[in-house]
Formats: sequence, structure tokens, C-alpha cells
Amino acid sequence: MRKKIIAGNWKMNKTPKEAVELTRMLKGLVDTDKSDVVFCVPAIDLIPVGEVLKGTNISLGAENVYYEESGAYTGEISPSMLKEVGVKYVIIGHSERRQYFAETDETVNKKVKKILEHDMIPIMCCGETLEQREAGITIEHIRIQVKKGLRDLSASDAEKVIIAYEPIWAIGTGKTATSNQAQEVCHAIRTVLGEIFGDTAEKMRIMYGGSVNGKNAAELFTMADIDGGLVGGASLKADFEKIVNY
Ligand code: PGA
Repeated sequence: MRKKIIAGNWKMNKTPKEAVELTRMLKGLVDTDKSDVVFCVPAIDLIPVGEVLKGTNISLGAENVYYEESGAYTGEISPSMLKEVGVKYVIIGHSERRQYFAETDETVNKKVKKILEHDMIPIMCCGETLEQREAGITIEHIRIQVKKGLRDLSASDAEKVIIAYEPIWAIGTGKTATSNQAQEVCHAIRTVLGEIFGDTAEKMRIMYGGSVNGKNAAELFTMADIDGGLVGGASLKADFEKIVNY
């Protein structure tokens, strides 16, 4: 049995002070050991949010990392920096980073490896545009993203990686993929994982993301190949409780 994982992706929201307030408000509502619950927060909020989460079952997550250890990379944050402040999960390759910050499958692959080297867990995102869906090339596109992102990983490393399937047309739009659409792609992801890593694919967790809310979470998260959700907008509100306790 794969343990469910529900991660909030705060994106570029909440100053450190606001982040502490939100964490205090949410932590009592979503502190459970039935699923893995993660707050992925802006880098500047990691330390104060981590303080508030101490003594709970909720894990701390980052939204990005750089793949070098240290050096002349102005503005970047290294894996050891995240590790030292208690980060357990790191979102990699979110479509917003691919779209606005030139993230590619190649940089995603480098980051995934670095995160694993530092004993943290990558949440590697993939997803198609509306144009790709309408052209009928969703599965091909996702297979390429998964293969390139996980290139040269051993099965034992791959087992730790979490894949987040996020159709770009469903992110922040209020337009959720139907549970069948989401399951179809998550199943295709497990198939390609099986081709690469064999039986390990059955142990790997695949999340769905894109307009998940308190109303649609239960239906999505009980599909055979969906092991939880990556939640943007609704993770900043009390509604997150309904998603975690779906
Ligand atoms: P959303 O964002 O839940 O606001 O659609 C999901 C995500 O981008 O991770």
C-alpha cells in the first residue's frame, strides 16, 4: 500500500509573518499520520514555518533548489541550505518554473539527482498544455518528461521520487481534470515507470495537481494510480483541511 501524500504549494505567497500565521491556523487542522502532509513554502518562509511545524507530523517542503553545491550562482539556494533548515521535500520542474524561469527536463534531472544525494525527496512535476491535450499528444509528452527527468536514476533512487501530474490547463483555473482523465495519465506514468524501473513502479507515488479542492479531492485521491495531491490555491485556506481529511 502506498501512503497518500498531500502537499500544499504556496507558490509566491505569504511573507514570513503571514506564513507563520497561516501555519499556526492550519497545523491543528491537518496534523495527521494517516497521510504525509507537506507545506511547500517560499524559501524565505522555510525557517519560520519550520519552527511552527516542530512537534507535528507535517513536513517542510521547498519549491525549488539549484543543482550545484555552492559558488557563484547569485540568487540561488543550494541543497545543503535546504537540508540544514529541515526541508524534506522539494518541488522540481513545476510548469510555472518551466514557463517563466527556463526550467528544462535536463535541469530537472540534475536537480532530482542532487536532491536525492542530500537525502531529500523530489516532487517532480510534469503536465501537458491545453494545446497538447487537444492535439492528442498528452501521453507522449508526459512519457518524455518522465523519462528525461528521471534519466540515469537507479531503481532504488527512483523509489524515493514522487511524480506530480499537473495538467497546465487545470492549474489555478478552477478547471480540474476529471478523475478519469487524471487516472488515465497517472496510469500512463506508472506504465512508463515500470518500463524503466520494473516492479519499483508499484511503490512509487504519483500525485495529481490542478485545481484540487475540498469537493473533488476524495474522488481524485481514490483513483487506482493517484496517491495524493499537489494543491496550490486551496492550500492557503482552511479548505486545505477538507483535502487532507478527504
Ligand atoms: P492550483 O495549483 O491548485 O492552484 O491549481 C496547483 C499547482 O500549481 O501545484
